[in-house]
Amino acid sequence: MSYFRELQATIDDLADPHRGILAADESSGTIAKRFETVGAENTEDNRRWYRDMLFSAPEVGKYLSGIILFEETLNQTDTHGTPFPELIVNQGMVPGIKVDLGKGSLPGASGDMISYGLDGLADRLATYRERGARFAKWRSVYPITDHNPTPLGLSANAEVLARYAAECQAAGIVPIVEPEVLIDGNHSMMRAARVNEHVWHSVFHALHQHGVTLEHMILKPSMVTPGKAIGKASPDEVAEATLNSLLRTVPAAVPSINFLSGGQTPTEATANINAINQHGTRAPWLLSISFARALQEPALEAWGGKPENHDRAQAAFLKRARLNSLALQGEYSEDMENR
Ligand code: 13P
Repeated sequence: MSYFRELQATIDDLADPHRGILAADESSGTIAKRFETVGAENTEDNRRWYRDMLFSAPEVGKYLSGIILFEETLNQTDTHGTPFPELIVNQGMVPGIKVDLGKGSLPGASGDMISYGLDGLADRLATYRERGARFAKWRSVYPITDHNPTPLGLSANAEVLARYAAECQAAGIVPIVEPEVLIDGNHSMMRAARVNEHVWHSVFHALHQHGVTLEHMILKPSMVTPGKAIGKASPDEVAEATLNSLLRTVPAAVPSINFLSGGQTPTEATANINAINQHGTRAPWLLSISFARALQEPALEAWGGKPENHDRAQAAFLKRARLNSLALQGEYSEDMENR
């Protein structure tokens, strides 16, 4: 059975010039780290409560087109008993699901990583689809060192990302392909640009070999920045380097590129996506976001694990969603942070 129409409809709903995607798909281990920073206890009910607060924020669907969930959240309900996927649809957004099962080291490629979760993926996708997921995400992780990524690290991760994407399309689910090049390290911006180009080139080669329809996928890359230990580049420098590298390697058939925030501060990430859109007016793709931390950090801090902070946390989340929506138009400026 061909899911062409359904895949196209999902792309049409997700790829919106005014709206980004929220990644709220932290595994129970990752959310534990996020909760710890604000003194919140990592219980199932706190995870449910926190995500309910985010997803039910008034008019959040004006700023976000989709939300990526962790498996546990796909099966939970809001305080009124509405399943989260249904709440997300009611809010005018598309529910998605993270499907990789984490990562470990890649044997034979010292320093490189590989993500798990291909075995049994077709069955899991069928179940997720029944529960309302219309798109999926798989994250591969590439550390930069003098020796990494190795040629094997590049080809193995590209192969896994392409197999995942092909499985998704065969199941009627739009794949978000996320090759995350980490910002950790003391590499130059030039080196980050070269590594990202190698990664994207290898990924699109593998996607082609696996027959993935580029029109029905979304790329979720890192922005090109210098290593964290080196310091920061300006938004204009990030935009220029990122666009140059993307133009060299990403086919124009891809409808939307939704960046991850990768450890940038919320204001930095918003300023960078704003500059990318200001510089990228002739780019063939939508230039959007799929942030986790950069959309959630202020809301997490405002909440602090205390239910009485519900409205403050929602306001902090909506502020980031709104400012990022403006940045997708290149209409954000830093003075808006204090208004
Ligand atoms: P960050 O925006 O926090 O990097 O998260 C994006 C993401 O979904 C990682 O898989």
